[in-house]
Amino acid sequence: MCGIVGYVGYRNAVPVLIKGLEKLEYRGYDSAGIACVDHQKGSLSVIKEKGKLGILKEKLGDFTIEAHIGIGHTRWATHGEPSRANAHPHVDASGKIALIHNGIIENYAVIKNALQKKKVRFLSQTDTEVGVNLIGSYYRKSPKLFDAVKRAVGEMHGFFSFVLFSKDDPDTLIVYKRSNPLVIGLGHGENFAASDVTALLPYTRQVIYLEDEDLAVITAKEISIYSLKEKAWIKRHPSTVHWDASQAQKQGFPHFMLKEMYEQPEVLKNILIKRIQKNGEIFFDTVDRKFQKRLRKIKRVSMISCGTAYHAGMVGSVAMGKYARIPCQTEVSSEFRYGTPILNPKDLVVLITQSGETADTLAALREAKDKGAVTLAVVNVVGSTIAREADAVIYTHAGPEIGVASTKAYIAQLATLLLLSFYMARIRKTIPATDLKALLREFKKMPEHCAKVLKESKKFDRCAEKHYTRRNFLYLGRGCNYPTALEGALKLKEISYAHAHGYAAGEMKHGPIALIDHEQPVICIAPDSLTYDKMISNIQEILARDGIVIAIGTEGQKDLEKMSDDFFSIPKVPEILSPLLTVIPLQFFAYKVAVLNGRDVDQPRNLAKSVTVE
Ligand code: F6R
Repeated sequence: MCGIVGYVGYRNAVPVLIKGLEKLEYRGYDSAGIACVDHQKGSLSVIKEKGKLGILKEKLGDFTIEAHIGIGHTRWATHGEPSRANAHPHVDASGKIALIHNGIIENYAVIKNALQKKKVRFLSQTDTEVGVNLIGSYYRKSPKLFDAVKRAVGEMHGFFSFVLFSKDDPDTLIVYKRSNPLVIGLGHGENFAASDVTALLPYTRQVIYLEDEDLAVITAKEISIYSLKEKAWIKRHPSTVHWDASQAQKQGFPHFMLKEMYEQPEVLKNILIKRIQKNGEIFFDTVDRKFQKRLRKIKRVSMISCGTAYHAGMVGSVAMGKYARIPCQTEVSSEFRYGTPILNPKDLVVLITQSGETADTLAALREAKDKGAVTLAVVNVVGSTIAREADAVIYTHAGPEIGVASTKAYIAQLATLLLLSFYMARIRKTIPATDLKALLREFKKMPEHCAKVLKESKKFDRCAEKHYTRRNFLYLGRGCNYPTALEGALKLKEISYAHAHGYAAGEMKHGPIALIDHEQPVICIAPDSLTYDKMISNIQEILARDGIVIAIGTEGQKDLEKMSDDFFSIPKVPEILSPLLTVIPLQFFAYKVAVLNGRDVDQPRNLAKSVTVE
């Protein structure tokens, strides 16, 4: 949450910061601001506005600034409402140090109290302003910014990253990372810092991912990193980013979400090419022999994640139980980490996360490692904290996902977890080779099926047009499509703000049936499956109470088609693969309902792409 970017070098910093913020706005959009030192006047300029980046850009039209150092921020509010006063950058009481921040300083109130006693005045409600003033108070005693930051962060509790500079030294950025992401971009005669590599891609592909407790001094020509953990100046090796910058553009689509939905067949295809070898074996390039040996000894699996990734974990869990015959539990990260989990070295904890930075999932990973479990991260963002800290990582290779509502990253998580379950089944010899071969043959058809479902999307549009004004939706599914019901409901509520509830269809009679009347749409996910007849019984019960049935079924299910007000079909596939297809019409439905309601699809209110606070 919160996007941060810093620049020092030969270009004018202002357009570099704005371009960076455009790429980072998905991380938060309550306010935006920049600070820089005017090259001619040597003065510190701070320009910030409440609301989206567009408002700041308009405001910047009133200024002509030439600066060679600067920092920029796009905010997801934690302490203090979205307002101009609470927008970053924040400046210390001396007016010299400007700072941007991502994360939370947990003991800010205690520090604020102490500073107020020393007559420091605060203009905002943020913890950030407290942070910059603590640094400022040490800087006033001894004007070495590096030393002041080092001392101040030692007193701050919580998880955060900073980028700052002082107008006394307009050639040097200082950056600090504790848990929240921070990456340095390496240029020629210029250097960058950002919370996400997407902000750096227009300028460089050479990056250094900072580790926790790294404090770096960045000038246009040099980068020096001091590790507070190791108490020494250290070298961190640069990595090359292979992401295609064009993947982070809309490419003619009205929204990133729609573009990302249309990328799903390609995402599936890439995963299958990467993961299934010519000899039919499933292959994870990052899982070495040693880790494979540890996997063979596993007696229990926990899939831990949040939101959409949690739904992917639920499907993975069904597959793990059914094919690898390992007891498997799914839990949301925030419950797992505080639930005193019982773990040992025969436990495999799989952390599923698009961003690789979600605070609760990171804390769950650390808890699992502390308790001696084997940890495996299933992550999209290469080089992210969770990817680096887990014992092993499997990348989902969905490419950058910018739309706040996750679509292609979900499909990539599903495909990867299904393959992981089949892989575990293979090494545990719980699936005959011929059965696995047949399953993988069907899997390889999925990109084509997915493209077909996408092509028929117009049908979903018409259904959305009928129902977009309704405020309550119920989603029902069973087995591996119960998570699809949860995911469909989550997609709808997060981007359209309508209330949507996902339920296991068998539970309908235990409460939700009371909701059903002639105004209640019920989205029933009922593809060909072991529990198809049970779903039909549920649908009969809904019809008997005059409910509106929107069904997602399999081609040729004439009975279901007749019963439904609207019917969408997916091609016939093995039940375990069906969640890769059934979710697509639900993504479309949510998208269309949101558009018809005039919602901001890519940046829904109150949300941010990467949840780096608890
Ligand atoms: C919903 C959505 C969120 C994320 C959740 C976890 O569309 O995107 O529910 O799935 O915040 O994020 P990651 O996967 O980055 O850990």
